[in-house]
Amino acid sequence: MRVVIEADSAAVGRRLADRIAEVLSHEPSAVIGVATGSSPQAGYSELARRVASGELDLSGASAFALDEYLGLPAGDPQSYAETVRRSVTVPLRLDPSRVHVPPGDEADPEAAHNYERAIAAAGGIDIQILGIGANGHLGFNEPGSPFDSRTRIVRLSDQTRRDNSRFFDSLTEVPTHAITQGLATILDARRLVLVASGASKARAVQRALRGPVSPDCPASILQLHADVTVVLDREAASGLEGWVATVPAQEQPA
Ligand code: F6R
Repeated sequence: MRVVIEADSAAVGRRLADRIAEVLSHEPSAVIGVATGSSPQAGYSELARRVASGELDLSGASAFALDEYLGLPAGDPQSYAETVRRSVTVPLRLDPSRVHVPPGDEADPEAAHNYERAIAAAGGIDIQILGIGANGHLGFNEPGSPFDSRTRIVRLSDQTRRDNSRFFDSLTEVPTHAITQGLATILDARRLVLVASGASKARAVQRALRGPVSPDCPASILQLHADVTVVLDREAASGLEGWVATVPAQEQPA
């Protein structure tokens, strides 16, 4: 596991963009797994800047989102379909027909299997972008999620609903359920890059990187993957003091 510690979230975003650009430089049709939430947004903005300036071309890439809330009306601005369209598809100039988000309408009992099949048909995920929940969740795999879980419908924990209520007008508007890639689905990606900023993530980061590998902290499963880059700001890394050193991204193998 490579751990990079940066001064602030803008620098974390630049490192995330560097890692994606590095993969794209030798795999222009890479399949990118995209997280929503705040953590990767600086990275998406930096990638958008590079695309706009002509430094980077993502027109051959595909994307699969990690998760989606259940029950939000189509086009709801807080749905992950809309979030991905706003922060990834449009600014990164991806082909919308190659951007996939799990369906959040509950209507199709085969939806989760079909999502797994679509990822497999695309050749698997080349690089998966991840954030981490304050409770250690990855995607919406809450504590207790089995390590062999695949895409499925899950109940959101009270903490996740409270944490995500900042995106909604009130806590009651936050959906109670979501569809999420499973932990085994995430671990199938060829490369993982986790980004975290802020003191509220320090404990989860410490448990994920230093704690026992256990479903109690779903992100501890990262310790089992052969190609993980973790990019943190100083606050998110504050629980790791004395354990890791900054590794310049340019010195890291692809
Ligand atoms: C989002 C996702 C979640 C978030 C996590 C952190 O697609 O899967 O696991 O990455 O909840 O959220 P932020 O980045 O908003 O703190």
